[in-house]
Amino acid sequence: MIVSTSYEVVADELKGRVILVTGANRGFGLAITNDLARAGATVIMLGRDLGSLEYAYDAVVDAGFEEPILYPLDLEGATPEQYQELQDNVEKQFGRLDGLIHNAAILGTMMPVEQYDIKLWYSTIQINLSAPFMLTQFLIPLLNKADDARVLFISAEQGREAKAYWGAYGVSKHAIEGFSKTLSEELEKTNIKVNTLDPGKMQTELRRAAYPAEDSSINPLPSDKSPAIVGLMGLSGKTFQGQQLQLGG
Ligand SMILES: NC(=O)c1ccc[n+]([C@@H]2O[C@H](COP(=O)([O-])OP(=O)(O)OC[C@H]3O[C@@H](n4cnc5c(N)ncnc54)[C@H](OP(=O)(O)O)[C@@H]3O)[C@@H](O)[C@H]2O)c1
Repeated sequence: MIVSTSYEVVADELKGRVILVTGANRGFGLAITNDLARAGATVIMLGRDLGSLEYAYDAVVDAGFEEPILYPLDLEGATPEQYQELQDNVEKQFGRLDGLIHNAAILGTMMPVEQYDIKLWYSTIQINLSAPFMLTQFLIPLLNKADDARVLFISAEQGREAKAYWGAYGVSKHAIEGFSKTLSEELEKTNIKVNTLDPGKMQTELRRAAYPAEDSSINPLPSDKSPAIVGLMGLSGKTFQGQQLQLGG
């Protein structure tokens, strides 16, 4: 289902909502954070490196947007105990969670299966698939406490149509599509809406790594696409459940 890229963010439309974004320090995650904070949401910015999270935090605060919360966590090595601690911290500070955006991902490498580095395969599956599973499992109780919650998995076209050489990245995105569908059916009778979104190509490090010969300036900026996420976290996202969304138009 196509979701329009052009969305006009209204000041304070997400005021009072608490939304966790993974990979919030740069790329699409930072653009999403900026727009959610511009719309008044309190963003829990999860990232693996505190220094780069702090740098991103300053940009959000300097712009005059809602002050975010920083949460350093390496999704590759995070343990169930660390996810429990995250649940406890969010519960203590907010008592609920209104949105969870699984954005962090790595490309791994572009390589035929025959030559794919096995350690990199495991890392990619861990960050792109197993971490979103664990994060979701530990945060469902808090999403259940919100009146109208969202879980959004940032996917990609390689997760909807298999393509040669995309290796663990493509496989992880296919699995995320399946996981999202499973979860949306399990949570069908709750207040939690679960969907995937393919944002399309953007000028980010991940895209540059996948297409090193491409002139990256021809691609849209992440900030061209992130306002639509505000819509999905707000009222217009309420109608979608178990959908494979795609930004376009
Ligand atoms: N760019 C595109 O054209 C495009 C197209 C379709 C879909 N997408 C999807 O959009 C999402 C964002 O991608 P992007 O293009 O913005 O990529 P990006 O610029 O490479 O950013 C990836 C983000 O994930 C974080 N991350 C990676 N490993 C992590 C770990 N172990 N623990 C915590 N955070 C980690 C990175 O943090 P560090 O700074 O610490 O590395 C960074 O914040 C991804 O899900 C991607 O699949 C992108």
